Amino acid sequence: TIPYYVKIVEVGARDGLQNEKAIIPTNVKVELIQLLVSSGLSVVEATGFVSPKWVPQLADAKDVLAAIQNVEGARFPVLTPNIKGFEAAVAAGAKEVAVFPAASESFSKANLNCGIEDNLARCRDIASAAGSLSIPVRGYISCVVGCPLEGNIAPEKVAYVAKSLYEMGCAEISLGDTIGVGTPGTVIPMLEAVRDVVPIDMLAVHFHDTYGQALSNILISLQMGISTVDSSVAGLGGCPYAKGATGNVATEDVVYMLNGLGVKTNVDLGKLMLAGDFICRHLGRASGSKAATALSKV
Ligand code: HMG
Ligand code: MG
Repeated sequence: TIPYYVKIVEVGARDGLQNEKAIIPTNVKVELIQLLVSSGLSVVEATGFVSPKWVPQLADAKDVLAAIQNVEGARFPVLTPNIKGFEAAVAAGAKEVAVFPAASESFSKANLNCGIEDNLARCRDIASAAGSLSIPVRGYISCVVGCPLEGNIAPEKVAYVAKSLYEMGCAEISLGDTIGVGTPGTVIPMLEAVRDVVPIDMLAVHFHDTYGQALSNILISLQMGISTVDSSVAGLGGCPYAKGATGNVATEDVVYMLNGLGVKTNVDLGKLMLAGDFICRHLGRASGSKAATALSKV
C-alpha cells in the first residue's frame, strides 16, 4: 500500500540553486518561489543562512526571505548550520528552520567544517533555541547510503544520527542521498534501520538523481510508509563536494508519478511546469525533468 496523500517539500530554490556558479538576482529567486507556491506546493525551502564564503549563491538569504514575507499559502523553511545562522534567520523572519548533519564523518567536515558529534551539538543548540520560540526544526541527514569521500554508509550510522535528531525535538527528519548513488537495494535496509528509532510519519526522503534511481527509491519509500518527499523543480541542483553529482529528483517527475498512482499532492503539474520553464530560461538550460520535457512537446 502507498499513502493517500504525499507532501512534497520543494527544495529547488535552495538545494537547486546553491551550486550555481553565476549569482542569480534576488528578484529571480523570489519570482521562482512565488511560481512554486502558485502551483500548490505547501512547503518551499527558500534559502540557507549559511556562510557566504562557503555558498556564495545564498549570500542574499536575508533579502529573499524579506521579499516573501507576504507570500501566502506555503511554509518557507531555511537552512541554519549554526546559532549565528539561526539568529540571522529568525531576525529575517524565518518561521521554520532546518539543521543538516551528515551520516559520514568526512562529509560532515567537508560540508560544515566540523565532525558529526560537534555538529550534532550545534544542532542541539539550534533545536533548543527554536523550541523556546516555537519554531519547528527539520533535520536533514546527508549521505544516508553513500558518501563521495567514504563510499558506502552503514544503516546504523544513519539510525544513530536520526535518533539524535528525534531526541533533540526535530519535527521532521529528511533522509538525503546527497550524491544519488542509492538503489532500492541500499535504501530499504537504511529505511528499516531508521524506522526502528524514529516514527515513520516523521520521516522524509531526499533523493538526488545522479544514477537515475530516484523515482524507484521514492516508490519503494512510499511502499514502506513514507509520505513526505523532497524534490527540486526542473531537477535543479548538484553537490559541491561530489564531482558529477546531479540535482534532486525533478518535482515534475515526482508529481507525474504520483498523479499516475492516484496519490493526492495538491500540486498542479501545468503550473509547476511554468516555474520550471521560468528558471530554466533564466539559467539558459534545458529542464532536468523528463516529464516536463515530454509534456512541453505534446
Ligand atoms: P567555518 O568557516 O568553520 O565558520 O564554517 P566559523 O564559525 O569559523 O566562522 C568563519 C566566518 O564565517 C566568520 O566570519 C563567521 O562570522 C562566518 P569572519 O569573521 O571570517 O568574517 N559565519 C557565518 N556567516 C553567515 N552565516 C552563518 C555563518 N557562520 C559563520 N551561518 C559553517 C562553518 C557551518 C558556517 C560553514 O561550513 C557553512 O556555512 N556550511 C554550509 C555548507 C552548505 O550550505 N552546504 C550545502 C547545504 S547541505 C546539502 O546540500 C545537503 C542536503 O540537501 C541534504 C542532501 O542532499 O543529502 C541538505
Ligand atoms: Mg540535497
